[in-house]
This record gives sequence, structure tokens and C-alpha cells, in this order.
Amino acid sequence: MSTPEHVAIIMDGNGRWAKSRGLPRVAGHRAGVEALRKTVRAAADQGVRWLTVYAFSSENWSRPKSEVSDLMGLLKLFIRRDLAELHHSGVRVKVIGERDGLAPDIAALLEEAESLTSNNRKLNLVIAFNYGGRDEIVRAARKIAEATLRGEVDPRSLSQEDFAGFLDTAGIPDPDLVVRTSGEQRMSNFLPWQSGYSELVFLSCYWPEFTAEHFNDALRQYASRERRFGGRMPQDVERGVAS
Ligand code: IPE
Ligand code: IPE
Ligand code: MG
Repeated sequence: MSTPEHVAIIMDGNGRWAKSRGLPRVAGHRAGVEALRKTVRAAADQGVRWLTVYAFSSENWSRPKSEVSDLMGLLKLFIRRDLAELHHSGVRVKVIGERDGLAPDIAALLEEAESLTSNNRKLNLVIAFNYGGRDEIVRAARKIAEATLRGEVDPRSLSQEDFAGFLDTAGIPDPDLVVRTSGEQRMSNFLPWQSGYSELVFLSCYWPEFTAEHFNDALRQYASRERRFGGRMPQDVERGVAS
């Protein structure tokens, strides 16, 4: 079975999971953190090298203040509680998204997680936090414009690879597989540049219900797909199949 090198997950449905149990939304977010822990283990067990998780979008600021503060609190708790264990298991943490404007204690924790784990090689865990794809692309365009003014970039020869080097995901391979839970079938501004040729798997379970079995099911669906990248399957080309 071909294992994807990079799996990206839109962890959606915490609120509906909580509602279906008569619980407050924050209970859904807490249960979501538990599902994330299990998923990191499942990814490492399956030999996936990169796991990106959508934890907080640039649009999630539009939620009520109390929910935003619950989500910020849970991120802090996750890093404080799990960082040592992640480090011990060989996980390298990288955070993508806009850092400016985050509370100083959160920004410091994100930096600590990245620097402590920077030499680990077992699994790369990319946390998309205060991340929005359009925001990322505009920030990249700004950086390119600034580099052009400094004479460091010649816009006439700027390639796709050069452009990608200005994104938050510079150096990270594109996701092979994007999984979204909760039954919604949309991207919600997640990795629009990077997912241009990703395989998409939509699962109906809510994120807090997500288990290693769901993860493995998504990997099986991925393995049954035929990726063409706009070209032809090599066996067809070899056989000289004309149509
Ligand atoms: C995903 O669950 C967590 C975040 C977006 C941070 P939601 O909070 O979106 O849950 P639903 O979609 O309302 O059920
Ligand atoms: C996407 O979920 C963001 C995260 C999972 C962090 P949302 O719940 O915010 O997306 P929409 O609003 O349903 O598109
Ligand atoms: Mg949602």
C-alpha cells in the first residue's frame, strides 16, 4: 500500500459532537485534543513523515470571545502537557500561520515547541494556528515585494518554486492527502496553494470521535486513488494507449 508522505487534517466537528451529547462546546474542543494525541501516534505508527493539523483559522477569530479564549487556552495546555512527550517520541513541531498579533505567552510557547524539537526526525507535526491560506499568500506576496525593492528578487524570473519558498510552508512537501471530519466538504481556506493536487477524503465522524481506525481508513482510500497530476498514467504511456 502506498503510504502518503504528508497527511493534512481539518479537525472539524467539535461543537456538534458536544451538542449531540448535551455538553458545552469547550468539552468538544477538549475531546478534540485527545483525538489529536491519538492521531499523532497513529501517523507515526503508519510511517507518515508529515502530519499537518488545522487547529485555529484566521477566520476563527469571528467566534465569540469566550470560545476563542477556550481554544487559545487549550493550545497552551496541549503544548505545556504534551511537548516533553512529543519530543521524547521524536516529533518535530513546526507552526504555520500569522504569529504577529498572538498573545506573547502563546507566541513564546510556539517558539519553544519548535526550538526544542528542531532536531527530531521521526514525524513532523505541523500545527496550522492562526492560519488562513489567503492570508499566507498575501504575506508571501508582501515579502516578495519587499525582497524585490531590496534588489534580492527579480520578479521576471520568479518561478512557482521561488514563490512557494516565501510561504509559511517553505521546505514542507505538499500534502498528498487532506482529510476533513464532520461531513463538511469544503477546504475553509486550508492550504489552498499546497493542496492543488492533494487527494481529498471526507469522513462523516466528528473530530472527537476520530480514531486510528479512521486514520487507517483514510490511508486505504488514498492508496486506491490514481494520481495523475495532469499527465497520463505511466503504464498507458508505455503501452502507447492512444485514447
Ligand atoms: C473544529 O470544531 C475546531 C475549530 C474550528 C477550532 P468546530 O468548533 O468547528 O465544531 P463545529 O464545526 O461547530 O461542529
Ligand atoms: C475549519 O473549520 C478550521 C479548523 C478546523 C481549525 P471551521 O469550522 O472553522 O470551518 P467552517 O466555518 O465550517 O468553514
Ligand atoms: Mg466547524
